[in-house]
Amino acid sequence: MDKKNHTPIFDKCYAFTQAAEVRASGLYPFFKPIGRSEGSKVYIDGREMLMLGSNNYLGLANDQRMKEAAEAAAERYGTSCSGSRFMNGTLDLHEELEHRLARFIGKPAALCFTTGYQTNLGSLSAMLNRGDHVIVDKYDHASIMDGIFLADGTKKQINLHRYKHNNLEDLERVLERIPSGAGKLIVIDGVFSMEGDIAHLPQIRKLADAYDAGIYLDEAHALGVVGKTGRGTCEHYGNDPSLCDLLMCTFSKSFGSIGGFVAGEEEVIDYIKHFARPLIFSASMPPANIAATMKALEIIESEPERVHRLQHNARRLIDGFTALGFNVGTAETPIVPLIIGDNDKTFLLWKNSFERGVYVNPVISPAVPPQRALLRTSCMAIHTDEELDTAMGVIGEEARKLGII
Ligand SMILES: Cc1ncc(COP(=O)(O)O)c(C=O)c1O
Repeated sequence: MDKKNHTPIFDKCYAFTQAAEVRASGLYPFFKPIGRSEGSKVYIDGREMLMLGSNNYLGLANDQRMKEAAEAAAERYGTSCSGSRFMNGTLDLHEELEHRLARFIGKPAALCFTTGYQTNLGSLSAMLNRGDHVIVDKYDHASIMDGIFLADGTKKQINLHRYKHNNLEDLERVLERIPSGAGKLIVIDGVFSMEGDIAHLPQIRKLADAYDAGIYLDEAHALGVVGKTGRGTCEHYGNDPSLCDLLMCTFSKSFGSIGGFVAGEEEVIDYIKHFARPLIFSASMPPANIAATMKALEIIESEPERVHRLQHNARRLIDGFTALGFNVGTAETPIVPLIIGDNDKTFLLWKNSFERGVYVNPVISPAVPPQRALLRTSCMAIHTDEELDTAMGVIGEEARKLGII
């Protein structure tokens, strides 16, 4: 069929030329295929690059022990579960991982999903019913918003409230206006995925208690990253698991795998198990990824020095970029945004750094607010001081040429 002779449903696709235009200008930064990964290095078009833009915070995605665990599980259980957790897709391995995760973060029960995204989609859409109120930080991750949209799409009348990023007065202003007696859930990232700062969880707990709200904490960038032993935001604030009621995390970051889990009281998790559509209507986490996650958990528990090294590297990156004159916002974790504002300058700095062998991620609206374009840099436990200094040197030089710093 002639492409131009299509039906109206496809009009928008042919009218969308923005990506093609940026590609033609040589500044298109997305979907770059990586040919090989080795520690902190990746190979793109056969060229070695220093990876300063991964969420593989502890460097476990390439750890030999992880690969062996994944291989052994594939050998024993096969490559897929070929079904949902409800039906033929539950393995003894899923349940073992759930028990271990619950123990690790200090909650009675946990439930695994196939991705972190599905964990938020499933848990939030199950928890929110018609008439409930959900209160989010403006910088919460997109998967949280999509979980709320799924709840609203399937049940209607979910009341969504947003408050200014990490702003407790604004949170209280929102809470004050919600009728007492209504179901209320505050949903926050523990570590914010683009800003790299940490939620003020103890104060949020106080407000939640005062206004009779529950707290749902997304620890995607926090487990394995913050807290003395990598147990996340609750540990960062003194290790009180009751600072949140429900905790979720993905396995695609510190755990070097893919999947996710939500944890909380037994009855609440059992409820989510029976009402989360992304759990019920999608195939379960594959054996190799469960085994890799379990191995990662074992390594995190037995090698706290990895977490300490990551925290050392984060400090070096924040201090180094700040000394160079970059605006790193409120970063306090391995996620260090270089806030530039202008999209074109952000793409240029990305391209010039990329050409000199440093891989970072440009982030523009809608992933961040308009006029807040940034380069998202992130370090891993396996980076050496020299590697971080080299990367900062390159980015600093290129930013100076562009008048960014
Ligand atoms: C805060 C946050 N929550 C959830 C997710 C979803 O996790 P996954 O990519 O493993 O599906 C992400 C991933 O980027 C995230 O940053």
